[in-house]
Amino acid sequence: MSNRRNFIQKLGLAAGAFSANSLFNQAHAAEFQHVHLQKQALSPIEIAADEDYWSVVQQGYTASPNIINLNNGGVSPSPRIVQEAVERFNKLSNEGPSYFMWRILDQGREPLRYKLAQLAGADPEEVAINRNATEALNTVIFGLNLKAGDEIIGTKQDYPNMINAWKQRSSRDGIVYNQLNFKFPIEDEDAIVAAFEKAITPKTKIIHITHVINWIGQIMPVKKLCAMAKRHGIETIVDGAHSFGLMDFSVPDLGCDYFGTSLHKFLSAPIGSGMLWIKKENIAKIWPLVCNDQPNSADIRKFETLGTRSFPIEQGIGEAINFHTAIGSKRKEERIRYLKNYWASKVVTIPKVKIHTSFKPEFACGICGVSIDGMTPGELDSALFSKYKIHTVGIVWENVSCVRITPHVYTRLEDLDQLVYAIGAIASKK
Ligand SMILES: Cc1ncc(COP(=O)(O)O)c(C=O)c1O
Repeated sequence: MSNRRNFIQKLGLAAGAFSANSLFNQAHAAEFQHVHLQKQALSPIEIAADEDYWSVVQQGYTASPNIINLNNGGVSPSPRIVQEAVERFNKLSNEGPSYFMWRILDQGREPLRYKLAQLAGADPEEVAINRNATEALNTVIFGLNLKAGDEIIGTKQDYPNMINAWKQRSSRDGIVYNQLNFKFPIEDEDAIVAAFEKAITPKTKIIHITHVINWIGQIMPVKKLCAMAKRHGIETIVDGAHSFGLMDFSVPDLGCDYFGTSLHKFLSAPIGSGMLWIKKENIAKIWPLVCNDQPNSADIRKFETLGTRSFPIEQGIGEAINFHTAIGSKRKEERIRYLKNYWASKVVTIPKVKIHTSFKPEFACGICGVSIDGMTPGELDSALFSKYKIHTVGIVWENVSCVRITPHVYTRLEDLDQLVYAIGAIASKK
């Protein structure tokens, strides 16, 4: 028991009110400790290909035996312990909602903020907990003091909810929203930075950057973009929906001013959880989307006046962080990149098959696009599901036309072998 506690402490899991008696501790600490000790000499890249290690992680999930889910980029499942935490908090809430939610579970928000901040490498006073990336980023987009004529630079490959928010600000407030149009994959960071820099005018106030382009998984050179923007006195907003909980980085280290993410993607937190990070000196000037009595306060908590929301979902985030931290961000990043390269490098040699995503680690991680000549993305998506029960998503969006495949830590190599087989069989009939 004391060994187990040492291990948990070593992993930095002790933070947070619920950690000491966490479900992770009860359900997984012993097996994670065992496999961790066995494999600790391996580097993250070596461990990425070690199926013994990942089988322990896979068992923590409740993946359907009837379909192969390769659309984890849309939304990811939670491990069993996270589901159990939500159920436990939900039952508790229903024993007396206003007491258990507002007087008991609400006490968990500050330790959770601390824990989330540790994961983000950030100051807890810069972290707000909310429901998804859309809410986090819309808070910033609508909260910024911008006037008619101020210019924003984004791209046509950003996420529609954010594009629409900027368009609404444009029609309501007269700001000018310029969208660059990229043709990915691009394996030249400087070319991307140069395209943004060329679009800057004396009126540019904000650059909106999607960290990982959701359509085909391109990793954008966020650090370089933020540094360039800073040289021009321009603020940056980063959409980290597909990077947080997947890639190993610290949010403040990106050099951005604002960062929003969902937690129900690669972090595997309960569905309907998100995080907003705002650099401390910027908090006071952002108007909250849903306000409290101190809209100009420098307290990050002003962004959490959401009214009655799901406390069980919010508190379930803690167990997802426990599970994630026990694996480690770098190991997770390398495993998911390994899975993507595993299947993509096999199908790329099949006649008529095209891969739409870079194989270079600096330009892609888990998300990858694939197409077959002579088939629409919708047709390929249907063919994969109807015969092979492989769930993916067909994408047709601004210079992108492919099926998006996204594995997760619970994805088995057998599932990807089945994908490779299916793509080969479908392509051979075209
Ligand atoms: C790049 C990007 N940003 C934001 C979102 C929105 O996430 P949510 O629906 O959790 O708000 C998504 C969803 O897939 C996304 O891909």
